[in-house]
Amino acid sequence: MSPVKHLVSLDDISAEEVHALFERVDELLEARNSGKTVTPLRGKTLAMIFRKPSTRTRISFHVGMKELGGDSIILREDEIQIGRGETIADTARVLSRYVDGVMIRTFDPADVEGLARFGSIPVINGLTDLEHPCQVLTDLYTIRQRFPGGRGPEWTDCGIAYVGDGNNVANSWLLAAGKLGLRFSLAAPRAHPANPDIIRRARDLASASGAKIRIGNDPEEAVREAHVIYTDTWFSMGAEKARPDRLSRFEGFQVNTGLLALADPEAIVMHCLPAHRGEEITDEVMDGPQSVVFDQAENRLHVQKGILVELMANDPEEGMH
Ligand code: CP
Ligand code: NVA
Repeated sequence: MSPVKHLVSLDDISAEEVHALFERVDELLEARNSGKTVTPLRGKTLAMIFRKPSTRTRISFHVGMKELGGDSIILREDEIQIGRGETIADTARVLSRYVDGVMIRTFDPADVEGLARFGSIPVINGLTDLEHPCQVLTDLYTIRQRFPGGRGPEWTDCGIAYVGDGNNVANSWLLAAGKLGLRFSLAAPRAHPANPDIIRRARDLASASGAKIRIGNDPEEAVREAHVIYTDTWFSMGAEKARPDRLSRFEGFQVNTGLLALADPEAIVMHCLPAHRGEEITDEVMDGPQSVVFDQAENRLHVQKGILVELMANDPEEGMH
């Protein structure tokens, strides 16, 4: 039997697997658009544990399981015994007796690692304080849709600028850039850098893949000639507390028309959402012609379906052709 596959970190997936995943997503999307039902997860159930709120992740996994012929169960931490101190290890052992996969959104990455270590079913990281791999895989897929090559650059040749907090999304972006050999520039305030272990790992990956990773504190420098400008909230879930103090440290990091003007004229603007409009991004940019944020949000569904099929299907090809 093949070992259980997980998506705990973006580091779990190779460049080849990312390309294969995107081909799977293309197939699923084509089937969906032509009204064809594809159900490789018939009879399977996904448990979803939430220790933080969610709109997109929760709904895309729920609808994704349904469209693939399976079922899902949503478990808020205050509704299950984890909230009263039952260990992750015991939760993993018990869930493995009932369901076929588990997705968790939590604070501590050790929760996700513990589920993978002590359970016997695939585990998916639906966001931790350290990473958001499902989001960044979706972002890459969105860039691939927008830059198929031909007239403009091919998606893997795009210059990608991330402007803002060195948070979970930025960390997964660093790993993705290192894995896939991308041109990636991160501009974060000195007080809010990306995780140092992840930066080290991304640099190691880059030396093998040829990725060009720049890490600095100057948004204008980062976006110059970029094809993708990416931002995320300055107040991630759990980091909302020291608000006025924190806000002042992000001065100059807003994605607005002035910043956008420095990028490639065909550049797209991305945001994983939810946005704090008027803080990290202006209404004008978010609702403007270069913004792809709602296509990006839609793609969470398509890419989540691909991930679920790759990790949970007995036969990922079932009903596909
Ligand atoms: N982007 C994202 O993960 O959104 P939710 O927090 O709504 O799931
Ligand atoms: N960095 C944000 C992402 C939300 C999807 C957070 O952790 O709240």
